[in-house]
Amino acid sequence: MLQLVLAPMDGVLDAPLRQVLTAINPFDFCESEFVRITDKTVSSQTLLKKVPELNTGGRTSSGAPVYVQFLGSDPKAIAASAALAVSMGAPGIDLNFGCPAKQVNRSNGGAALLKDPDLMRRICADVRNAVPDQVPVHAKMRLGFDSCDRYLELAEALYSSGISMLCVHGRTKVDEYLPGTVRWDLIGRIREVCPVPVIANGDVFDRPSAQKCLEITGCQALMLGRGALCLPNLAAVIRNDDEPYDYLKMTRVVHSFVESFERFNPEGNLFARFKQFLSYLREHYSPLKEREVFKRVCRAADVMEALEILDASARDSGCA
Ligand SMILES: Cc1cc2nc3c(=O)[nH]c(=O)nc-3n(C[C@H](O)[C@H](O)[C@H](O)COP(=O)(O)O)c2cc1C
Repeated sequence: MLQLVLAPMDGVLDAPLRQVLTAINPFDFCESEFVRITDKTVSSQTLLKKVPELNTGGRTSSGAPVYVQFLGSDPKAIAASAALAVSMGAPGIDLNFGCPAKQVNRSNGGAALLKDPDLMRRICADVRNAVPDQVPVHAKMRLGFDSCDRYLELAEALYSSGISMLCVHGRTKVDEYLPGTVRWDLIGRIREVCPVPVIANGDVFDRPSAQKCLEITGCQALMLGRGALCLPNLAAVIRNDDEPYDYLKMTRVVHSFVESFERFNPEGNLFARFKQFLSYLREHYSPLKEREVFKRVCRAADVMEALEILDASARDSGCA
């Protein structure tokens, strides 16, 4: 049975957007944006800020579990933070060994740990020991730091630690997100030897690319990141063969996002996040680009005016 996972995306896929996307898609679970751990246990306030779903049983309002993702290099502090998250209702934990951000790597977090497989193993093992057996602990890796030379050794360090699932983004750290660099074939090699299920990740943007990724990797689980933002019902398209949302349905999703954001984060910068969401959507919805709707939205005085421009463009497209 195919499993679909909504990717963690720092600064993008936060609680308001998880709420919207899990309401219209059959995601099996989501992962939170990374919670960064230094040498101290995280506070419960920080956890609730990053993962407000911990107030509602660790699930979005449509019932999708939200695993809490941690990033750091101190095994004890991460393990204690994971135990705290689970005591607050986290249904699962994910550990980040893939973030390519310089600031994060400088403090030995994310993809920097791909240079130290023993430390990755210790972090996973300590977290596994710190949380009850029935709580899943996952790890997310890239294929290497600056080359794919050791990808099998890196995967082994993770799966031998007792984790329950391994997610592989099929790029190295230096590949960042460059088009054409994703290696689904190497994810497949890991899947062949890995004793726990592997989640394939990278460059799934539509049903054909999902099918091709599943075929090449042999995986039964996909993680969807940017694609789930460009086409808001991507998971339903992949799993149920639903029609991709048309322009009008897309505008309704944007309205839901505005409502969700205002509910979760009334003090936040809604307009910035609105434009960010639209910058993903314009990859799929050509009128946003061709008719300069995106440009006009960016020049709007506020979100109300931007929504009016968007709605008018749906009427002009003959969708409304
Ligand atoms: C803006 C942005 C933020 C991201 N933040 C995270 C993060 O917090 N944790 C993580 O494990 N991966 C993070 N990622 C990586 C994604 O989860 C995913 O692995 C990557 O985008 C490839 O999948 P895709 O091609 O489906 O987008 C981020 C990616 C982007 C573009």
